[in-house]
Amino acid sequence: MCGIVGYIGERKAFPILLEGLKRLEYRGYDSSGISLLNGELKTFKKKGKVSELEKFEEAVNSHATIGIGHTRWATHGKPDDINAHPHHSGNNRLALVHNGIIENYGTLKEYLISEGHEFRSETDTEVLVHLIEQIQESKNLDLESAVRYALQKVVGAFAIAVIDREHPNIIVGARKSSPLVVGIGDNEFFIASDATPIIKYTNQIIYLDDDEVVTISRDDNPQIRSLDNKLVDYHIEQVDLKLEEIEKGGYDHFMLKEIYQQDESIYEAMRGRINAGEGWVKVGGMQDHYNRIENAERFIIVACGTSWHAGLIAEYLFEELARIPVEVEYASEFRYRNPIIGPKDVVIALSQSGETADTLSALELAKEKGALIYGIVNNVGSSIARITDCGSYIHAGPEIGVASTKAFTSQLVVLTLMALDLAHKRGTISERNFQALISEFELIPQKVKKVLQQAAHIKSIASEIKSASNALYLGRGYNFPIALEGALKLKEISYIHAEGYPAAEMKHGPIALIDMYMPVIVIATNKNAYEKIFSNVQEVKARKGIVIAIVSEGDTEIKKIADFTIEIPNTDDVFSPLLSAIPLQLLAYYIAVMRGCNVDQPRNLAKSVTVE
Ligand code: M6R
Repeated sequence: MCGIVGYIGERKAFPILLEGLKRLEYRGYDSSGISLLNGELKTFKKKGKVSELEKFEEAVNSHATIGIGHTRWATHGKPDDINAHPHHSGNNRLALVHNGIIENYGTLKEYLISEGHEFRSETDTEVLVHLIEQIQESKNLDLESAVRYALQKVVGAFAIAVIDREHPNIIVGARKSSPLVVGIGDNEFFIASDATPIIKYTNQIIYLDDDEVVTISRDDNPQIRSLDNKLVDYHIEQVDLKLEEIEKGGYDHFMLKEIYQQDESIYEAMRGRINAGEGWVKVGGMQDHYNRIENAERFIIVACGTSWHAGLIAEYLFEELARIPVEVEYASEFRYRNPIIGPKDVVIALSQSGETADTLSALELAKEKGALIYGIVNNVGSSIARITDCGSYIHAGPEIGVASTKAFTSQLVVLTLMALDLAHKRGTISERNFQALISEFELIPQKVKKVLQQAAHIKSIASEIKSASNALYLGRGYNFPIALEGALKLKEISYIHAEGYPAAEMKHGPIALIDMYMPVIVIATNKNAYEKIFSNVQEVKARKGIVIAIVSEGDTEIKKIADFTIEIPNTDDVFSPLLSAIPLQLLAYYIAVMRGCNVDQPRNLAKSVTVE
């Protein structure tokens, strides 16, 4: 977690760093800070949002052309002014920003205290900057060498940027398990957690690898060395990211923009991978390892949060269509329980950011054990995308709202395509059914548009239940994970306690919660289990619960007994999550806005969770 940014060039650094931090705020927003070097080293930091930094007049007026900045998601030490980054060395010569966790900071701190260092904050990061200072002074080293030496003593994850009052023409950066990129402009250079703060100035980007240390300077090309001091050849990539993609574009919030983009993002995830007219589905990422994938004994899907919910839907898809056994694992649990994995397993990682630390670690473990690793990722060039053996990008475009929306539906598209491709090749689906399904699949973007047209109706339902303290979400089959996802969306952005359940499980416990104040959101579009869902709705109504039912167009039965209904176009059960997820995203969004919550930056959360 946390976002870091650095600038060195000919322009005033402060506005560039400030704007960059605003773009990185999705990574953490409990405090922020900027250090500027202009003869003196000056640091300005504050608890709260990045905009707090605008209040430092001295920083705003500074002519410094080199600086580093940080937006924080607290791990070690509460969110306050002192724990905010950048942190200084004891001699106030160095300033450092850090994303990640220094696991052995306790031991290092003891050693540094014994050497006479005094600490101001509770953070692990401050230990690192003191360690660099200690090495720099005791060994009389330049900044880059001192950073390399120090990092060899560090256990943990880091992306860092350091500036040195005595070397005002360089920034040193390094990474291990946390992302870091370098931007190459015209007589100016940038360093950042991702390309979003840089893209306004240049699309020439270098993605750093683990254990690499980069030096950017005013008058030379970037130099990259491995931690053991070998010069590294690097590759400059042209990043295909447009400024308007990372701006709100007239919407009140990124989340709303991203919900509304879903007809297009779903289409983008399908593009070139399906052609109903010619009767084929082809997921390019599987091609090189097709044999191993087709003959896998088992798929193990690892993910967190919303991506994990997409994984649960994939279990239904792969098992029903392609008849391949699937296990879906929370990445954090998987890696710590000594799982049985072998070379006949295919481990599929689902991640929007491609940087989620738990998912990344789970993959490293699976790789060690010989499984084939397949990544389904949104962020191009991200850590997960780079360590997988093969995979598919979901092409959803930047997702900035902390609540995942369009990435979820795009993940579902790729997973459905994979299931159909495998089913067809393995002969587990009839040709007729295959053709019917892919024809229907191509209609989904149009049907998504129709769902989005119901926003005003969904908003009016939101106003009826916005004051609830709890909510229950129920679904069956393909729509059970959608119940989980609907509940997650509501709780993370509106802070209403919500639970998702398989509808039939309700009578085994949660039914006790139902009374006249409890909204129960039922996803009732299933063709297969309609009567069963209908009975569940009756059970809720018998206990005076408020039923909000997502039904298929033309529904008559559930409509009669539900308090509110939201109609979505008819489709096969296989595709139903792609449509039923959207009203639940909108419902959560409107409720959160009505409750005055910050939907794009909910409390305590961050977009990409790069700490375990
Ligand atoms: O980037 P990832 O898909 O790996 O992120 C996983 C979760 O952190 C993420 O889905 C999180 O649950 C979202 N806030 C949900 O909206």
